[in-house]
Amino acid sequence: MNILLIGSGGREHALAWKLAASPQLTKLYCAPGNPGIAREAECVALDVTDHAAVAAFAKANDIGLVVVGPEAPLVAGMADDLEAEGIRVFGPSKAAARLEGSKGFTKDLCARFNIPTGAYGRFSDAAAARAYVEAQGAPIVVKADGLAAGKGVTVAMTVAEALGAIDACFDGAFGGAGAEVVVEEFLDGEEASFFCLCDGTSALPFGSAQDHKRVGEGDTGPNTGGMGAYSPAPVMTPEMTARVMDEIVKPTLAGMAELGCPFQGVLFVGLMITAQGPQLIEYNVRFGDPECQVLMMRLKDDLLPLLNGAVDGQLSHMSARWRDDAALTVVMAANGYPGTPQKGSVISGLEKAAGEGTEIFHAGTAEKDGQLVAAGGRVLNVTALGKTVTEARDRAYEAVDRIDWPQGFCRRDIGWRAVEREKAR
Ligand code: AMP
Ligand code: GLY
Repeated sequence: MNILLIGSGGREHALAWKLAASPQLTKLYCAPGNPGIAREAECVALDVTDHAAVAAFAKANDIGLVVVGPEAPLVAGMADDLEAEGIRVFGPSKAAARLEGSKGFTKDLCARFNIPTGAYGRFSDAAAARAYVEAQGAPIVVKADGLAAGKGVTVAMTVAEALGAIDACFDGAFGGAGAEVVVEEFLDGEEASFFCLCDGTSALPFGSAQDHKRVGEGDTGPNTGGMGAYSPAPVMTPEMTARVMDEIVKPTLAGMAELGCPFQGVLFVGLMITAQGPQLIEYNVRFGDPECQVLMMRLKDDLLPLLNGAVDGQLSHMSARWRDDAALTVVMAANGYPGTPQKGSVISGLEKAAGEGTEIFHAGTAEKDGQLVAAGGRVLNVTALGKTVTEARDRAYEAVDRIDWPQGFCRRDIGWRAVEREKAR
């Protein structure tokens, strides 16, 4: 089968690497891709916002499945537009992608189908949102309703901070995404990311991970897209996984089907594990980046039949096997990130850094005059397996230290929670 993968980040490099190993693959294309992906796939310079162009390419190249990496094309209806042309797509319809595209939609779904999540209000004007915050007090969380590239959430420790966040949203800080605001109860606990492949009716648990959102060591400084991750997440015990499936994932799939928009694709369940049990923080309708990188390292089975199973409604007959090993990824970012990253600096030494059980996935890289250069904020994902998180971490940092890129930086404490737990054992 020929596959077209959509996207250009570290997540898509990890997907390309795993798909390229499938005996069922004939040819892998990626649009637009990056220099790392180019080792696994033929990169094509398609404008992925032009769904008609993507459909035309898929038809001309006998594409059996389009795999959509990022959320933006899904929220924009890429799956609907390709399916209307008879092209098979792994990823949800526009209506089902509202699980990520509208936080208010997801909160209303939770309320209607009894899914545990923080108490909330939805507001389309500042005065009502401010009054709600004044009445609830702090800490409290303010979220722009729409897609805001991970920047639309303020966890406010004071009422003044929450009011400032409300005003910023309605003043256009997040463009159209902030025209509506969700104000939500602050949840206290340990966060975990949990993934399920979904075929509209059934969900197949597909691993867990913990991300590190803040740019600085000790979880300090501004939020980022994620500075590193490891899998599995120790809080996702078999008992906790069973509760999340029963209390959160299954009612969500049933609810989405009842609303006429069954969910097919990967459901990324952002959880807070509180003293009262698991609570939904948010849904994403795609793999996490960099969580996908650690999942793909740990997945023993062929990914392609699982993605086909989701598209064909066959997941209830399928299972996924994982390595017992832990995986950990360290994000190397360009100086300046998450503000304005410095672009164009030369990166070398990747050949001597990768090896058995260690993969370097490319995110924001480009090729210029035969050299690899930084072309974005998050640039490389240095990913390793190990018997424990501690061993995976040590291997990942050994590889980091073999990379020659003075203009890049990384957090040195990825995995610290799990490493402390392992020390205490
Ligand atoms: P998001 O951009 O929705 O992933 O949110 C960014 C981060 O804000 C999450 O990873 C959490 O750390 C935090 N967060 C979001 N909602 C809540 C909440 N209700 N209570 C506590 N923290 C939250
Ligand atoms: N790493 C968080 C995300 O992909 O949203």
